[in-house]
Order: sequence, then structure tokens, then C-alpha cells
Amino acid sequence: MRLSVYWFGCVALLCLLMGGEVWCDCTEDNMQIEGGTYTLTKGLNASSLLIYHCPEGYYPYPSKKRVCQLNGKWKEEPSIFRPQTCRMVECPSPFVLMHGIVNPPQEKYYVDNETTYECYSGYTLRGSDRRVCLPNGKWSGSTPICSRDSGSDCADPGIPAGASRTGNLFRLDDKVKYSCNGNLFLVGSHERVCLENGQWTGTEPACYYDYTYDTPLEVSEAFGSAIKGSLTTLDPTDDTQEGRKIRISKTGKLNIYIGVDISESIEEKYLNDARDTVTKLITKISSFPISPNYEIVFFSSDIYEVVNILDFLDGKAQLNLVKTQLENFKVGSRNTAGTDLNLAFATFLERMALIKQRTGEDGFKEHRHVIILFTDGAYNMGGSPDATVEKIKNMVYMDPNYRQKEPLRADYLDIYIFAIGAEVFDDDLKHLVVGLGGQHYFRMKDIKKLQKTFDEIIDEEEVKGLCGLHKDYDTNKERENYPWAAQIVVQNEGRVMRCMGSLVTPMFILTAAHCFTFDDLPKHVTVDIDDGQGRTKRVKNFFLHPKFNVSAKVNEGVKEFYDYDVALIQLKEFVKISTLVRPICIPCTQETSDGLKLVGESTCAQQEQLLLKNMEKLTFLTRRGKWVDEKHVHAKLGDNRDECIRHALDAAGITTQNPEVPVTENFLCTGGRTPFRDHIACTGDSGGAVFKNYEHRTVQIGVVSWGSQNLCKGGGVVESQENSRDFHINVFRVVPFLKSILGNDNQDDFAPLEFLKS
Ligand SMILES: *[C@@H]1O[C@H](CO)[C@@H](O)[C@H](O)[C@H]1NC(C)=O
Ligand SMILES: *[C@@H]1O[C@H](CO)[C@@H](O)[C@H](O)[C@H]1NC(C)=O
Ligand SMILES: *[C@@H]1O[C@H](CO)[C@@H](O)[C@H](O)[C@H]1NC(C)=O
Repeated sequence: MRLSVYWFGCVALLCLLMGGEVWCDCTEDNMQIEGGTYTLTKGLNASSLLIYHCPEGYYPYPSKKRVCQLNGKWKEEPSIFRPQTCRMVECPSPFVLMHGIVNPPQEKYYVDNETTYECYSGYTLRGSDRRVCLPNGKWSGSTPICSRDSGSDCADPGIPAGASRTGNLFRLDDKVKYSCNGNLFLVGSHERVCLENGQWTGTEPACYYDYTYDTPLEVSEAFGSAIKGSLTTLDPTDDTQEGRKIRISKTGKLNIYIGVDISESIEEKYLNDARDTVTKLITKISSFPISPNYEIVFFSSDIYEVVNILDFLDGKAQLNLVKTQLENFKVGSRNTAGTDLNLAFATFLERMALIKQRTGEDGFKEHRHVIILFTDGAYNMGGSPDATVEKIKNMVYMDPNYRQKEPLRADYLDIYIFAIGAEVFDDDLKHLVVGLGGQHYFRMKDIKKLQKTFDEIIDEEEVKGLCGLHKDYDTNKERENYPWAAQIVVQNEGRVMRCMGSLVTPMFILTAAHCFTFDDLPKHVTVDIDDGQGRTKRVKNFFLHPKFNVSAKVNEGVKEFYDYDVALIQLKEFVKISTLVRPICIPCTQETSDGLKLVGESTCAQQEQLLLKNMEKLTFLTRRGKWVDEKHVHAKLGDNRDECIRHALDAAGITTQNPEVPVTENFLCTGGRTPFRDHIACTGDSGGAVFKNYEHRTVQIGVVSWGSQNLCKGGGVVESQENSRDFHINVFRVVPFLKSILGNDNQDDFAPLEFLKS
């Protein structure tokens, strides 16, 4: 009793009388989340949002966020019966496969759980035969489908995990309908119709939990390919170059309407991120050969117009102006409470009507319209935007019957929605998207991720073959900086060996031979490389350099001899190439010459001359936490080499007096403190690439092998001492080995790499 009296007193103290109203602060009592953290948008002030965060592969349960109300109470109040925790992410049930078997049968599937798919005899499998549950609540790969040739007009469209389908006939005009089971909801087309051209209308549906989200990579691929459809168009008159992309016809106009929800339902710092994201998007669009007109609004209960599309029509506005206006835009003391999504759509509709008025009916026919909205969908004013969206369709399609069949002018209107926020109101949003060419509804955890997403909308197809291409995000070292980096674990009996490696083709990893012992088998080896399809890759085989022999010079006073310390690991499956995962360039290949811009018939020697000079600054990676950090070293060649390799004689187990016995010509030497202070390799750095960045490409020069002293068994970025040295295999010296495997054209597993003739 006393306790509750005290408690009331405390709350009273926290309340303020403001303008006749009593304002209270919320408290942090009982707000903790097991296994996670929370952030507050406005401290404990009224209207502050408390947002829960969990590690990757987990989601907050039962609440994702809470709001501090005027009376000092949180809405949803925490309940002792349902304590706030981070729960493990699950993937939807894969047991929807028809005419086949799913293994292993489990009641629930969590992150990293694997499933395999097999068809009954007489049926063939399309899609993935193996899928891994990913941390975003989706299965890797694509929907497995078992079908047999039945002479239908369309192929079996399959059943996505967690869904049910009605309709088992796939002839012209046949319909299939989908729904999601349990507490999953459907994103994509509920209904698909078989068309004359053998395709199904709409996009493949997927079943999402409310914690399922799209990764930046998925969004950039899906949105990228869809928006590219609007930014480029096929020239129907040009049949010599099929699929060539050209400018939209001169008279044609593209109008892009961007709306960003800045209501209080979304965090405050969101505004800056939103502004940067929109800037990134229009910058990206400006790299396409088309100049759209823009309407840009921020909205809450009101509309804040940043850029008016009519200024473009009048020739008053240009892209630069848009960027300045975005930069200068401030919400200030304006009222951001409440969200009127309908008002945003109504504003766009009104602008379209004005365009139509100016251009006339015929002129308007040339105009395409793309609406892009960023919102969490929690509108609480203005009612549902459904009717306004119908009016927009009516105006653009110019076809009163568009509801009955696909409108002729379907490709003149796209509505994309990026659903963003701690809690998204999917049911109010996902049916508002419009347009052909794939997914239009995206679910993201936070808008910051979108900047990178838009950054990646480039023609990935065109850069598929480019080794060593990477991003230079210099502040945080991310996967994109080292898309070739791999980590290797060899686990045999009680022994665990961790090494680094580098992706040199979509199927091969280069590492050190000493990472393996003679009784290791492929099944003991895993490669960690996160291509978004499950990070742990299985290994088909590995190959050590045939001349690698640790005991070859025991009689010459070298207990452990590391010449030819290189190995290649072959994966069971290709990794998926993207901005996140891409091979490094290796010496003496044609691709590397192309990357170095060597024209004509180039040679290995030319490459070496460009890449490897005395005191060349090189880099290798070391594990740090879940990812990596850089170490910087200088290659001692020419006059500096003798002094460098001399220190090899200090290493344990070396009794010869000649440093060239343990350190052959095949090694590069780094370390020491003069003339530059180098970093030193630690346990666990072995096998990693010693590399150099050259004109936005990364070329591997060495493989980390051994050192004269072990200064850091625990790893980390450690500086060299005056007398410590590291020895790395010079990759230019082991090209015949690389060529014998990577350049082998007597096999069907992979496309051979093209090596230079000399
Ligand atoms: C809470 O409100 C007070 C009074 O309006 C203000 O001075 C303070 O900055 C607010 N705190 C936060 C974290 O927003
Ligand atoms: C599935 O994942 C859960 C949670 O990580 C794990 O406990 C379980 O062993 C996994 N099952 C299989 C078959 O890998
Ligand atoms: C390694 O070298 C030693 C010494 O020359 C030799 O006896 C041994 O056979 C070699 N091992 C292999 C696998 O070639």
C-alpha cells in the first residue's frame, strides 16, 4: 500500500501544468526487452516513441514500439504476463510443395535451418532444390515447383511458402488465387491469370510475417528493374539490336511524384534521412538518359510542397534547383501531428489534372506517371486513399473498363510504396500499389538503408564480369568494400582452423595450403560468404599446390617450409554475384588487364610492373567482431628485400644461416617499422588476400602465409616490431597452378577464366 502511494507521488512530480493542461513524463520502469535494446525519439516526453531493437535474426515481441501519452502512460503498457523479449525469426512453412517431398520435416523453421526439395517420379523440379531460412524471414532462392508437361498454356506458377492456392488448371484465361495461412499476410498478386503469351499476370505473391522485411539488395534489384522500365523503353522500330534501350520518344514525358510521410508516427531524425534518400534517388534517376518532371511533397496532416511539377512544365525548375530546395526544406514549427495519406494522393491527382489542362487530352496521352511514397501507412486523417487512387487510374488509363481487364495504358502509371517504420500498417497500404514489371511494394526496416539501395540501382547485368569492382564507403568498412572477402573454417575431429580467403571466381576461393592437414576432407570445410542466400557455403573439393610440402627442407634447417602455400577451394554451388559479392582480380588474367586498362595483347610482366613496385603499399584483412578490419603494409623489393628476409632467421625452428632457404623468390616480405611502420599478421589472417586497389578495382597480389614472430595469437590490428616480418606468397609466382584449375576448359562445372598467354 505504501508503495503505491509513493508511486503516485512520483508521477505527480513528473507532471507539468502547461497552458491549463497537465503534461506528464513517462518512466522507463519495466520497459526493458530481454535480448535487445530500445531507443526513445524524444526522451521521456509526451509523444516520444520507444522503439525496440533486436539482433539480426530476432524480432521484438509482443510490441515493436510504444508511444508516451500525455498522461505519462505508455501505449501499449507493458504486461507482466507477456514480457517483452526478442524472439527468433521463423520462415513460413515450406510444406506447400505439390507432387514432391520436403526435408527435413520440422514444425518450425528458424534462421539458418536448411530444407531440400525433391519431386515424385515423373515430375521435374523448377526453382531451388535447397533453401535456407534467412534472417529477414524469407527462404533463400526461389519457390520450388514440381510439374510435368501437361500441354497447358502457362507453366505451373507454384505455391510460395506459407500460401494456399485455388485453381489447378493453367490454360488460357485460367485463374489461380492465393491466400496466406495463419498470421502471415500476402504481398504481390492475390490473383493471376494465364495469358496468351504463356505468362501469368501480376507478380509472384509471397507470405510475410509482420517482421519479414526486404533486404536492400532485394529492393534494389526489384525496384531497380521496375523503375528502369519507366526510365528506358524499348525501341520497337529497331529490330537489328534487340532489346536496346533508348530515350523515351522526344514528345513523351515522365512525371515522378514523390511523397514522404514526416508525421510524428515516424522518428524525428527520419526527416534528414528521408531528404538524403530522395536526393539519392533523383541523382540516380538523373544518370538515365531521360529528364523527368518532379513533384516532391512531405506530408503529415498537411502537405509541404518542396518542388512543384508545374515549374518543370514551365521550364522554370531544373534538377539542381530540386536538390537545393530539398536541402533548404525545414519542417520547423509546423504541425506534424496526424497523417493524411489521402491528401498526398489527392495532391498528386490535382497536379495531374493541371498537366492535363495545359497539355490537352492528346498531349496528356504522352505522359507517364510514377508515384513513389515513403510511409508507415498509419494514416489517421482524411480517410482511406482508395477512391483517390481509383481516380488517378481513371485519369491515366483513359479507359472506363480498366477494372475488367488489364488496361491498354497500364505502363503509363506506377505507384510504388516503401513501407518503413517500426510498425507498418500493411493492410492499409499494400493494395495501393499499381504497375507492371514486378514488385511495387517494399518493406524496409529503416529509410537509411534505402540510400544504399538506390545507390545500387545500376545495370548489375552489365558489370557482372568485372572482377575487383567495389564501393569506396570509407567511413564504415562494409561487405561492399571487400565483396570478395571470405572466411574459412576447417573443422576435423577436435581441430578447428580458421583462415581468410578471397573469391576468385563465382565458384572458387583462394587461400593458404597450410589451412588444411592431410586428413581433411571437403566435408570438414565451410566457407562463410554472405551473398544473401545463406552465408555458410558447402565445399565440393579443395586443391593444394602440388609442390607444397611443409617438411621438404627439414634437412636444410627449416622445420616448417611454406613455399607454394596456396590452395583453391571449389564450392558446391555458385555464389550469387552482386554489389555484395564479387570476385577479386588475380594476376595474369584478361579480366585483370581490362581492369587495369591495359589495351591490346598485354602480359603478366606489364601487370606486375603496374601493381608491384618497391615499397608498394598493400593491404590485407583481419577478422574484427562479425566482420573485418584493414592492415597496411609495404612490400620490400629490390634493395630492401635482403634486409627484410634476413629476419626470417629469427623464427623458431629455423637453424640455417641462409635466409633464402626458407624465403624463396616466391615470397613477398612486409613488416618492420622503417621507413614506414607496417602492421603485422596475426593468427587467423592466414590465407587472406594481400591486395591493392587500382582505379576502383581490387587486385590480389599475395596470400598471407607465415611470419617470423607470433605477436598476436588473439588477432586484431597490431603494429609490427622493428624485427618482426611477414612472408606472403606472391601470386604472380603461382599462376600456373591457378591456371591449371581456374583456366581448365575440360570440364562442365564452370566457365574457365581466361589467362594471358605470357
Ligand atoms: C522534453 O521536453 C522539454 C520541454 O519541452 C525539452 O526542453 C526537452 O528538450 C525535451 N527532451 C527531449 C529529449 O526531446
Ligand atoms: C534450426 O534452428 C534452430 C534455432 O537456431 C536450432 O536450434 C535447430 O537445431 C535447427 N535445426 C536444424 C535441423 O538445423
Ligand atoms: C616432402 O619432402 C620430403 C623431404 O624432401 C620428402 O621425403 C617427402 O616425400 C615429401 N612429401 C611429399 C608429399 O612429397
